[in-house]
Amino acid sequence: MTTNEMWGGRFAQGPAAIMEEINASIDFDRRLYAQDIAASKVHAAMLAERGIISQADAAAISGGLDTIKAEIDQGKFTFSRKLEDIHMNVEARLKELIGDAAGRLHTARSRNDQLATDFRLWVRDAIDSLDARLVAFQRALVAKAATHAATVMPGFTHLQTAQPITFGHHLLAYVEMAARDRARFASTRACTNDSPLGSAALAGTSFPLDRDATARGLGFMRPMRNSLDGVSARDFALEFLSACAIMATHLSRLAEEIVLWSSPAFKFITLSDAFSTGSSIMPQKRNPDAAELVRAKCARVTGSLVTLLGVMKALPLAYAKDMQEDKEAVFDAADSVALALAAMTGMIGDLKVNEIAMRRVAGEGYSTATDIADWIVRVLKKPFREAHHITGRIVAMAEARGCGLADLTLKELQSVEPGIIADIQSVLSLDASVASRTSFGGTAPDRVREQVRYWQEQLK
Ligand code: ARG
Repeated sequence: MTTNEMWGGRFAQGPAAIMEEINASIDFDRRLYAQDIAASKVHAAMLAERGIISQADAAAISGGLDTIKAEIDQGKFTFSRKLEDIHMNVEARLKELIGDAAGRLHTARSRNDQLATDFRLWVRDAIDSLDARLVAFQRALVAKAATHAATVMPGFTHLQTAQPITFGHHLLAYVEMAARDRARFASTRACTNDSPLGSAALAGTSFPLDRDATARGLGFMRPMRNSLDGVSARDFALEFLSACAIMATHLSRLAEEIVLWSSPAFKFITLSDAFSTGSSIMPQKRNPDAAELVRAKCARVTGSLVTLLGVMKALPLAYAKDMQEDKEAVFDAADSVALALAAMTGMIGDLKVNEIAMRRVAGEGYSTATDIADWIVRVLKKPFREAHHITGRIVAMAEARGCGLADLTLKELQSVEPGIIADIQSVLSLDASVASRTSFGGTAPDRVREQVRYWQEQLK
């Protein structure tokens, strides 16, 4: 067994095969190649600027790195597990391309600060692309909400019909959640956007680095103040995962609703063929697989958060190899939420609403009972508690008669409360009920249209 060509100087023997297998991260950290190369170029330029390496070597390094970037882009690069990770794979290839000058690139740097830098850059890029997907998702929701600002549906509590609402209002609730998801990612981005480069292994370095220049060159806000923190902080990744997990949780709630709404028991919506699947045995089936998978992805993303929290718990400063386990968790979560968002955007855009079914269920379960109680408070000036009690008796009467609240005659209503007059019948319809909920944030179609306009403006 030959010793490792990058760090094998003090070793007489190479690693056991199983050591190589457990140690190598190249199978997943190759995804950091663009960030790794960008950071190396900035580092080399700074070293030359500071006279730590020659301009000629820096130029050779930069040219070689460009070649490597192109090779990887085009799938022509051969990754080697023997070289452990992306950092050493790139450096070894650089040596093949430019010779000994390649050995100067790692001056005043360690894989610890190199990796921390690459990973922050990657998370930053992931946040930017997720934000674009979140905007697309919001736009799809707002467009549907605009079409259905006055479409009546049952609003549920405990999944029991509670009060009629509008479908547009329901969709806009998810737009709000997505807006907070975006804010969480923005705040994670700010915490991610400091540069660990120059922390070296853990203690900093004796070379006269210009850490401000490398930070600036990579678009970071500033160099991190403490080199130990620079190499060992992973709270940016934890924040990212937690923002992903919260967002995935939001998506899972909508996914679950789509599964329910599209079931024959509800028939509220029909998913497009493009987002449905058939059954291999039951020809009639039309399954909401995409929504079910979004629902399940949430577990996986939450799992990634828990994984990294577990890895980081009680880990002494500074770097420990445990932290190599940070990447798969983050990559998998980022991939999962990106896919989930795209699938949800597609499903929302395509789905067809069955207004008749929604309206039918909205009228079940005496859903306008609160409107009666409110009317009694408003017109008869009764305390709400008493109005609630009177309404309860009215509901019991409708139940006994097997009819809806709007089907009760004035006489019947008056047998419960003699003060009731015909005007009460104006609040018993579903449309009157939703139209009356004009409080800020309420479900009235006019309010929903206002909110739609607000979001259209925000998402321009
Ligand atoms: N592949 C390593 C990781 O992902 C890079 C850092 C290695 N550093 C070290 N001291 N062995 O964590």
